[in-house]
Amino acid sequence: MSVRVISSIKEMHEFSNAVKSEKKKIGLVPTMGYLHEGHLSLVRASKKNADVTVVSIFVNPTQFAPSEDFDKYPRDFERDKRLLEKEEVDVIFYPLSDEIYPENFQTYVSVKDVTQILEGVFRPTHFEGVTTIVNILFNSVKPDIAFFGQKDAQQAAVIKQMVNDLKMDIEISVQPIVRESDGLAMSSRNIFLNESERKDALVLYNSLRYAEELIKRGERDKERIISEMKMIINSAVSAKLDYIDVVESNTFSLVDKIEEGKSYYFLIACRIGATRLIDNILLTV
Ligand code: PAJ
Repeated sequence: MSVRVISSIKEMHEFSNAVKSEKKKIGLVPTMGYLHEGHLSLVRASKKNADVTVVSIFVNPTQFAPSEDFDKYPRDFERDKRLLEKEEVDVIFYPLSDEIYPENFQTYVSVKDVTQILEGVFRPTHFEGVTTIVNILFNSVKPDIAFFGQKDAQQAAVIKQMVNDLKMDIEISVQPIVRESDGLAMSSRNIFLNESERKDALVLYNSLRYAEELIKRGERDKERIISEMKMIINSAVSAKLDYIDVVESNTFSLVDKIEEGKSYYFLIACRIGATRLIDNILLTV
């Protein structure tokens, strides 16, 4: 059966109200399209945990700075639709930019502290765009549960903070990172990498794995671990590091010390040629 594509907000509301009146649970997977196995893992989690699965596809202009790749961001709706049909998704929510952001649009949602570190330093307007569109998607689709990837660990932390602070009655489910067979985290932006950059891009995962190895061997000095990771990153000619840092997994705040019994995200953002990639690993000490 072919998947239903809904573009108007009114039709989306009507669909969701009808589903809710049957006491069925709606799962939402927000995406910007150009889907890969990472996105599809979220779709499968939704199919398992909800009665009706809605996947939104919208390349959200407000989360890109003017210098970033909004115009270049890959788009292929027909391909995405075929992939989602195979997964037996119920609805693709594919809104029009003019309806999401009409001329008189003037409301933004912003989360404070957790948006100021890591990605927030390099992309200062990014998270306000994300929380604003995710709010609009939540209000349009009215999900009971929404699925996000650990690939964007800070984004997931920001969304959780927003949902808690604004008392939204929505469960946030975070799913593990899906990787290529050599370890590169799947990303819609990987198609921008040329052959030699594709090889260089492995330094992100390799350095995270090395951090894991050092922790296993008993190393607890954060700066020493980071400096070893930097050596791996710098071994790739096309790599330019934005940051490597460590946050405690529950609070998502930066730490100086690594302590026994706690879990941490080690996070990297790195440009490989002109393509900016992020990756992370969750380690329990
Ligand atoms: P996008 O980059 O399309 O990602 C959509 C979802 O897929 C995010 O929750 C992201 O963390 C997850 N994802 C991406 N790559 C993954 C991988 N390799 N493994 C597991 N999950 C992965 O993130 C966005 O879009 C946007 O910011 C959005 C939330 C849709 C708001 O515009």
